[in-house]
Amino acid sequence: MTDITQPSNSLVTEPSTPRCVRVCQNRTCKKQGAKEVLAAFEALPVADVSVMGSSCLGQCGNGPMVLILPDMVWYSGVQPQEVRLLVEQHLLGGQKVKQMLYYRFHPQK
Ligand code: FES
Repeated sequence: MTDITQPSNSLVTEPSTPRCVRVCQNRTCKKQGAKEVLAAFEALPVADVSVMGSSCLGQCGNGPMVLILPDMVWYSGVQPQEVRLLVEQHLLGGQKVKQMLYYRFHPQK
């Protein structure tokens, strides 16, 4: 059943589930700046959120790709200067950053 009291953009996760940010570090994403994106996340640590580089996330060419678990929220074309917004709005604020969502998995209505 859908909880209509929750805004559609909010993230509902179990408080006990640790969050993890995965930043693809495979070839294509790396060419697109994924190393700098990973460094930007590491420079803005958030309590109880782990950040790690990952192998290919299977979405090559749309990078740098970022996957946030367990939310299963995908961001594409992430630039280092956009990481602060992801940290503040998504990881701390619990709201997806709509304009950065990966269109294939998060089609806009
Ligand atoms: S290289 Fe990053 S998704 Fe494949």
